[in-house]
Amino acid sequence: MTTGLANSSTAARRQEGLFRLGRKWRKATLITHIISAGSWIGIDVIVAVLVLTGRFGTTDEVRGLAYQALATFVVWPMLISALVCLTTGVILGLGTRWGLLRYWWVAIKLALNLTLCVLILVALQPGMDEVGEYGRSLGTGASEPRAVSDLFYPPAVSLTTLTIATVLAVAKPWGRIRRARKGGGPR
Ligand code: HEM
Repeated sequence: MTTGLANSSTAARRQEGLFRLGRKWRKATLITHIISAGSWIGIDVIVAVLVLTGRFGTTDEVRGLAYQALATFVVWPMLISALVCLTTGVILGLGTRWGLLRYWWVAIKLALNLTLCVLILVALQPGMDEVGEYGRSLGTGASEPRAVSDLFYPPAVSLTTLTIATVLAVAKPWGRIRRARKGGGPR
């Protein structure tokens, strides 16, 4: 009898997550999570606009300014949004019944978020000095360097990935990663 009660409370705890977020904290964390995801998407749109302006802008001055703005203002706000999204997502996962590696939709979002953070640091940030330098030298008739030709990929990859993550968050598809134990899962 006592063992049964202990077992069911252990099972319930396992379903709830590592710790339990109270209602207010859960709402506050979810709001921060959604705002950070929205900011991240917005920054990606700005990156896309700056990259397109840098490539197809009407004058060299406009193109140069677009590249300079890209190099100066974009990467750190993007990384901060990504890290806030990651942190709040992890807190929501651990503090609720969703868990981190319990449901496919959460685990996949975790992998996507981590991958994008690494890409920002490894693939985007290191080239920014060169992009800024090119922006400054555009007015002096500098030739098209290789560094800016593949700038289309970051916003394209990131916007596609974040759209997939948003769809996963809302649709919550595919259920649990492991089969529910006897007694059924939380959904
Ligand atoms: C990749 C970028 C991400 C985007 C765009 C994103 C987007 C969203 C959105 C829009 C919601 C609200 C869904 C709803 O209330 O119906 C949500 C909820 C949630 N997200 Fe994310 N998310 C991202 C990353 C993550 C990560 C990395 C984790 C954890 C590993 C995570 C875990 C969660 C959880 C557990 C919820 C549900 C919270 C609840 O219902 O209390 N998310 N996400």
